[in-house]
Amino acid sequence: MRNIELFFTIFFSIFWGRLLDAQEIAPSSIPDRIILNLTENSSISMAVTWRTDTTVSKGLCEVQLAPEGPIDIKKSKIFKAKTTKVRYEYNEEPKIVSNHHSCLLTELESGKQYIYRVGSQSNWSEWFQFKTPSDQNSCFSFIYFGDPQSNLKSQWSRVIRGAFQHDSNCGFMLYAGDLINRAGRDSEWQEWFLAGSFIYGMIPQVMTPGNHDYNGLTLDPHWNAQFTLPTNGPKGLEGTCFFIDYNNLRLISIDSAADSELKNENGYMMTAQKSWLDSVLQTNTKKWVIITTHLPFYSSKENRDNKFLRKHFQPILEKHKVDLVLSGHDHAYARGRATDNPSNDHKVMYVVSVSGPKMYKADNKDWMEHFGSFKQLYQVITIDNNELVYESFTTDGQLFDTFILKK
Ligand SMILES: [Fe+2]
Repeated sequence: MRNIELFFTIFFSIFWGRLLDAQEIAPSSIPDRIILNLTENSSISMAVTWRTDTTVSKGLCEVQLAPEGPIDIKKSKIFKAKTTKVRYEYNEEPKIVSNHHSCLLTELESGKQYIYRVGSQSNWSEWFQFKTPSDQNSCFSFIYFGDPQSNLKSQWSRVIRGAFQHDSNCGFMLYAGDLINRAGRDSEWQEWFLAGSFIYGMIPQVMTPGNHDYNGLTLDPHWNAQFTLPTNGPKGLEGTCFFIDYNNLRLISIDSAADSELKNENGYMMTAQKSWLDSVLQTNTKKWVIITTHLPFYSSKENRDNKFLRKHFQPILEKHKVDLVLSGHDHAYARGRATDNPSNDHKVMYVVSVSGPKMYKADNKDWMEHFGSFKQLYQVITIDNNELVYESFTTDGQLFDTFILKK
């Protein structure tokens, strides 16, 4: 082949490859990346967010109680979305410009099944079904994932779909950070949304950010554009540090990836979150308290130790008798009750887990009651009034670890 032919062959294969990639992940006028998020008070409100191209400048969400059969759209209550335009650039990858539409669905009834669809006058999504949590102290479950992070389409998809198959009635799904590998990279979010697809539209999702969801000190611009998480935390940590009340549970997200993993002990991100956490635990009326945060209080690896996190937050957790901490980051599994302050007379149960295929080896450390390496896991946590049953499963559905907490 002559040099000129070779040049054009290579040029067009790269050009068409890029164009096809861009088409695959570019938004259109039809809603995609539809996702439910829990709100501060999940029994009476729910948040939904979706994406379109910029030709759609207004978004609507139609909601009604789930009927037994065909849908009468005249029965719907219509909510108007807040629309935000974001431009995503990542190295040489195609630039993506999206309109993100975010709706807070309010004045819902607790313990009911609703249907909704999102879109605009000309393009609607399919109808999705979701449930609001029932009365306090009725039994519910949720699924917790450690870091998905990599191979989201090819390998993490198996985990979320297996978990959904296992407990499709769960109240919500919880992520302890590092949902993707490179903050700001739209092609990775495309894989994350493909993996969960319609599950995100039916089951509310809750996520705390990890270090890979930050680019240095800057949160991935996708985070607050494509998720509508509570903004009841300290100023500057909207959507990353927050609390949610769900049935008899107060679920709290501490943003341990902010300020480069809270390395500045006297920095705003540390001091603001500490005083906020103390106040939301002080005013808590829920029976169970679970904290989620990306960095583990106790690491699964010998050479890793998040001392500042433990030093500053553990006394607050123990003072208010927090039940459980769910974290990620270490790409292995470890679980146990531990304290650095024996005089406080309360030991919190700490878990670190991983759901994606990136793996590190766990070392056997004093604090652990159970540990393991090279397993992709999901956890089903069931709370029935005074009893919490925790079960960790490998991706092929085998029980790997379990414990029970009682009040
Ligand atoms: Fe991490």
